[in-house]
Amino acid sequence: MRRAVVLGGTGAIGRATARRLVTAGWQVDLTGRDPSRLPHDIAAAGARFVPFERGDQAQLAAAFAGGADLLVDCVCFTAEDSARLLPLAREAGSTVMISSKAVYVDRDGNHSNSATKPRFGGPISETQPTMAPGSGDYMSPEGYGANKVAAEQVLLDSGCPVTVLRPSKIHGPGSRQPREWVFVKRVLDRRPAVFLAHRGAGIDHTTAAANIAALIEVAADSPGARVLNSADPDAPSALEIARAIARQLDHSWQEVLLDDAPADGLGRTPWDGPHAIVLDTTAALELGYLPAGGYATTVAEMVDWLVGAARGGEGSELLPLPHDEYFAPLLDYTAEDRRLGLES
Ligand SMILES: NC(=O)c1ccc[n+]([C@@H]2O[C@H](COP(=O)([O-])OP(=O)(O)OC[C@H]3O[C@@H](n4cnc5c(N)ncnc54)[C@H](OP(=O)(O)O)[C@@H]3O)[C@@H](O)[C@H]2O)c1
Repeated sequence: MRRAVVLGGTGAIGRATARRLVTAGWQVDLTGRDPSRLPHDIAAAGARFVPFERGDQAQLAAAFAGGADLLVDCVCFTAEDSARLLPLAREAGSTVMISSKAVYVDRDGNHSNSATKPRFGGPISETQPTMAPGSGDYMSPEGYGANKVAAEQVLLDSGCPVTVLRPSKIHGPGSRQPREWVFVKRVLDRRPAVFLAHRGAGIDHTTAAANIAALIEVAADSPGARVLNSADPDAPSALEIARAIARQLDHSWQEVLLDDAPADGLGRTPWDGPHAIVLDTTAALELGYLPAGGYATTVAEMVDWLVGAARGGEGSELLPLPHDEYFAPLLDYTAEDRRLGLES
């Protein structure tokens, strides 16, 4: 039986990977800090939880004890993380490091976390220039992509068969950043309208965890040192995302399409932006990757998970709190009611 170890494996990518590989007959070990985050159905299918706090070399070695045919790292953010991973990558049959499209820069040096939004002018291939490698705070807008580049380079320069994946906006059950919540929550609150800046035309490519898992399986079967974009076969706009979710939940609302992006944030969504960000996935397809499905199909399990969690089911502790710094401004009903003339 082939064995896979997924570091940071109880989140969106790890769950999808476990579901896929267990079905294909693999033994899958998922690491995390909290064993309660391993869903019952995945444990029942045979996947095991292994404790691992990022940065703890002893726990890392223990998680990998006995070796693995596939090593996936979902919590690799810095050059130091990669250096700690290297001894394992030298032993593993194939290693996959989860990087990000945030590494890419446009001709002016802007990237997806810049104050000035990037303008790529078309689908981004893996040969697009990246930020320079960097260190410092990997949680900062400038530090995230720079640290990812540094982490990628340590692994790609090692001579090990490491596949670096660059996903875009990830969706899937178990996600710690469930962006689709901005529409699911509105449906659960029976909101009469949805406001969309830029007429909902904004595109920031989506990446289903199930599609990442499909690509990980290909990388497991074809070990090699390479970089691959990872994204859904379609690139839905914010309006198409809102419609897919409303349709799935059988909710109808007035679509208020705003021409611009108002200064008060009305209509802003995680996918809004002045210029489309789309990843070219030709290289993955040429390697034999077959997407698990398009956005509307693959997002369905995420939507079901969010609704279940909102009703107290698995993952309820992962849902954003009402005053969440990221989500609260995207769920500002007061401003919407004012615009609808509904304020009391
Ligand atoms: N979210 C996106 O849209 C996006 C886009 C591009 C790239 N990425 C990359 O995707 C990766 C995240 O994958 P994901 O979306 O599957 O993650 P996720 O849903 O956020 O889950 C995070 C996983 O990592 C574990 N974890 C978190 N902090 C940890 C720590 N300090 N030590 C050990 N384990 C830790 C979590 O378990 P516990 O909480 O139990 O520890 C969980 O298993 C990151 O490398 C990120 O840079 C994300």
